[in-house]
Amino acid sequence: MIVVLRLNHRRERDKRVSTHIGLVARAFGADKVVYTGDSDEALIKSLQTVVLGWGGSFAADYEKDYRKVIMDYASKGFKIVHLTMYGLPLEEQATNLRKHKNLLIIVGGEKVPGDVYEAADYNISVTNQPHSEIAALALTLDRVFKGKEFELRFKGAQKVIKPDPKGKSFL
Ligand SMILES: C[S@@+](CC[C@H](N)C(=O)[O-])C[C@H]1O[C@@H](n2cnc3c(N)ncnc32)[C@H](O)[C@@H]1O
Repeated sequence: MIVVLRLNHRRERDKRVSTHIGLVARAFGADKVVYTGDSDEALIKSLQTVVLGWGGSFAADYEKDYRKVIMDYASKGFKIVHLTMYGLPLEEQATNLRKHKNLLIIVGGEKVPGDVYEAADYNISVTNQPHSEIAALALTLDRVFKGKEFELRFKGAQKVIKPDPKGKSFL
């Protein structure tokens, strides 16, 4: 099971980025996203609406305290993976990540507290350049799943796209 923890969501400023973290997590094979920071019912609802239309059983949740989320998942045997440009290279560590059945993948917001680096079993960089939590998450999931996320099918979908070289088609 893969759970994504998005730290320090800010209701107004991070609306799009936080939504996209949830969408990428779902589309690329994670099972759940948990947000900390501002409580944001609209964000959770928008992801639930996507699940209703596009299928699968992806869950979205809010928790006030990121430390509690990390401790709870660690106590259930999840390995804690923190994505940071300061960490060890993803391309070298992907094999290690794949050894674990359950991962909590943490992506930051504006400021990542020092104790997150300490709590992580793995601090992982996706290049050592500053970029985006969305890109870092997408590439990490792709390396963890070794491209198998392209084969995912979402059960119970009301909307299924029929790939079309020109326009928009649905099955
Ligand atoms: C825009 S950055 C801001 C980070 C912030 N300055 C801090 O205190 O670390 C937001 C998040 O994007 C992710 N991120 C950005 N660049 C990354 C990289 N090269 N490798 C892994 N994750 C990265 C990290 O999860 C980071 O916390």
